[in-house]
Amino acid sequence: MTSNEIRQKFLGFFEKHGHAVIPSASLIPENDPSVLFTTAGMHPLVPYLLGEKHPLGQRLTDVQKCVRTGDIDEVGDYSHHTFFEMLGNWSLGDYFKKEVITWSYEFLTSPEYLGLDKNRIAVSVFEGDVDAPFDSEAYETWKNLGISESRIAKLPKKNNWWGPAGEAGPCGPDTEMFYWVGNPNEVPESFNDDNDLWLEIWNDVFMQYDKSKEGVFTELSQKNIDTGMGLERTLAVVNGLDDNYKTELFWPIIESIENSTGKKYEDEQKAMRIIADHIKASVFILGDNMGVAPSNSGQGYVLRRLIRRAVRYGKQLGMISFTGEVAKVVIEIYKDVYPEVLNNKDFILSNLSQEEEKFEKTLEKGLKEFEKGISPFVLFTTYGFPFEMTKELATEKGIKIDENEFNEEFKKHQELSQTSSAGMFKGGLADAGEETKQLHTATHLLRQALENILGENIIQKGSNINSERLRFDFAFSRKVTDEEKKKVEDLVNQKIKEALPVTRVELSKEEALATGASHTFGDKYGDIVSVYYVGDSRETAFSKEFCGGPHVNNTNELGVFKIVKEEAVSAGVRRIKAVLE
Ligand code: ALA
Repeated sequence: MTSNEIRQKFLGFFEKHGHAVIPSASLIPENDPSVLFTTAGMHPLVPYLLGEKHPLGQRLTDVQKCVRTGDIDEVGDYSHHTFFEMLGNWSLGDYFKKEVITWSYEFLTSPEYLGLDKNRIAVSVFEGDVDAPFDSEAYETWKNLGISESRIAKLPKKNNWWGPAGEAGPCGPDTEMFYWVGNPNEVPESFNDDNDLWLEIWNDVFMQYDKSKEGVFTELSQKNIDTGMGLERTLAVVNGLDDNYKTELFWPIIESIENSTGKKYEDEQKAMRIIADHIKASVFILGDNMGVAPSNSGQGYVLRRLIRRAVRYGKQLGMISFTGEVAKVVIEIYKDVYPEVLNNKDFILSNLSQEEEKFEKTLEKGLKEFEKGISPFVLFTTYGFPFEMTKELATEKGIKIDENEFNEEFKKHQELSQTSSAGMFKGGLADAGEETKQLHTATHLLRQALENILGENIIQKGSNINSERLRFDFAFSRKVTDEEKKKVEDLVNQKIKEALPVTRVELSKEEALATGASHTFGDKYGDIVSVYYVGDSRETAFSKEFCGGPHVNNTNELGVFKIVKEEAVSAGVRRIKAVLE
């Protein structure tokens, strides 16, 4: 089945059920400063989900272009992408759970539509918590359709809840549909959310609650349906492929990379996937009629990072001045469905080659410094060149660099900065001793790492820093296990190694809240707040927090992070003490 057949079947199916087909909105949201890109089909429809009347009625369906940079670390595997298409259908206060689940199942399994194997389908529903009850209606509907109970997982909010998009607004439990992409003769009896071979392909969201700023959930008077099905994943599973890059939406790009490098996809999967994914996303951002070009802020900055990351991986494969050639293949694949990429071809190609050239120059400048005898270590601290890139540059020029020496200098640097700041330390963050700054930045990394590893929103209950250690108190109901502590440490150290810049921006309180930056509930903030980001861009930042600072400029200044103690302070509050070595 081709991608176009799937698009047409999807729209046709929902048209048959009374939905009006609407065109894909732009990738660059209009009148919505809270997000840089359209990340889901529901985005452009928010006003209608909140009750405004849509001119085409209460049932809509579309194929929406989306860009998500939140999953960028996962791009390189078989199923995550920066740019993807989302097939969606909406009920604006019309039909609800039973109808949408029944239709989803029919579309997935009916031979007239996708004809997927019923025995390879599993689903999950919301298990219930203090905010909303177990979703028995969704559960019973799936059971009545014939899905066995071992294939219906009941999962918490972290898995089965969608929205609100910002701090407050419409949201609700969802039901997700998974397809077994492993050996068809070995489909497990039960669904297991941790097994990657169960691939999520569709999400039906039941937008039945409104979340207030205070975190209170009330039933919405207009109950909506918002669904999202990933086209690339669906195309792969329908065609029995275990890799999205082997579908017609990617394979010609991979082939062109294979041809120009003489290397095989099987040997260079990660690099080729990242190049294909990032250049495709860049083509769509440049080709969106909005004139977004590489720059140092907003959408332009994300675009710059995508192009440069692709160029970096291209260099690994020995490719030079290649982005235009890859982009032409992307345009060829999409020109009939999204004519804007063809219409903007010149703009796309010229911006790609300019950016590629600029990046080459930056690399060259770094290299010159390097050739002058500046050590890779200084290149790393002053130019922010990741060690990996320095190594690549050196190899290209036939210069040998010593990894052990680099590591030793790195350690020495940490010791030096610690001794000098220890002497000056007077206590209190306002003094901004080097060490306190380091520990303060480490505290931000720790909070985010806890959130990622423990899978819960981590609310800070207190923080204290002295010259030796940081202390961080947070709401959590049980002991953190040794294994979890290790994972948290590893994640923090990984982020230190990645040499992420730490940046401060001033935003209005509303803007800051809309970025989803972590903040202490109940704290009073002024109209303008400062937010600290740890990461290459605001969109991809590992951590974002309301905070007055001060912080180090780059995580590479931190040394090695180590948790020395984890204990209870009171019922429901844990305390972590940690040091930088
Ligand atoms: N808005 C839902 C999602 O993006 C459908 O998963």
